[in-house]
Amino acid sequence: MDSAAATVEVRQIRGPDEIDALGEVTLAAFSSLPADVLSDGYGDELRDVAGRAAAATVFVALVEGHVVGGVTYVPGPDNPLAEFTAAEEAGIRMLSVDPAAQGRGVGAALVAACLDAAAAAGKARVALHTTPWMTGAQRLYERLGFRRAPERDWHPTPAVPLLGYVLDLDGPTSAMPAG
Ligand SMILES: CC(C)(COP(=O)(O)OP(=O)(O)OC[C@H]1O[C@@H](n2cnc3c(N)ncnc32)[C@H](O)[C@@H]1OP(=O)(O)O)[C@@H](O)C(=O)NCCC(=O)NCCS
Repeated sequence: MDSAAATVEVRQIRGPDEIDALGEVTLAAFSSLPADVLSDGYGDELRDVAGRAAAATVFVALVEGHVVGGVTYVPGPDNPLAEFTAAEEAGIRMLSVDPAAQGRGVGAALVAACLDAAAAAGKARVALHTTPWMTGAQRLYERLGFRRAPERDWHPTPAVPLLGYVLDLDGPTSAMPAG
């Protein structure tokens, strides 16, 4: 794959081959972090793209037909994958880019697909959680307009602090002319 010139296609995931490929990419991306995130069954959860695609919307990034990344878009608080409670919010989970394809805008393109989906659904905000050791993800989110929301921080286990982030969207209401 010619990394410099390659164009990234982002769309909803299709078929078992892409689901399997994104499972491996997700595992590889999280394995590259400076923390043991794969213990306690979390590796199986990361690989379960089929489960996420059944419950929510999974976007995949392809370069020359190869899966290089993916993300789960959570459409509302009633979704089993939701980590937020407000009806006017959507969520982002499990953002992952193959370590070999990072640093070329693939992660930004995947987040943009989620923001587009949330805007199309008339959502007011997009929420997500990250961890202290996901420093690259934090830079990406802040560059795209997310802000820290410490009131949303929580610990799924004592060893895993989750840091809340939100982005306010300009919904159709606020874009409408006054009067
Ligand atoms: C976080 C993650 C998804 C980012 O993916 P990515 O494809 O590398 O993201 P981008 O390419 O959009 O941005 C990464 C960097 O590349 C830079 N970049 C983007 N396009 C570029 C280009 N064409 N040329 C040079 N640099 C570029 C960005 O400016 C950014 O720089 P920074 O590291 O100084 O902030 C990826 O690192 C990952 O999978 N990490 C492990 C899993 C994880 O932490 N997930 C987050 C869950 S909350």
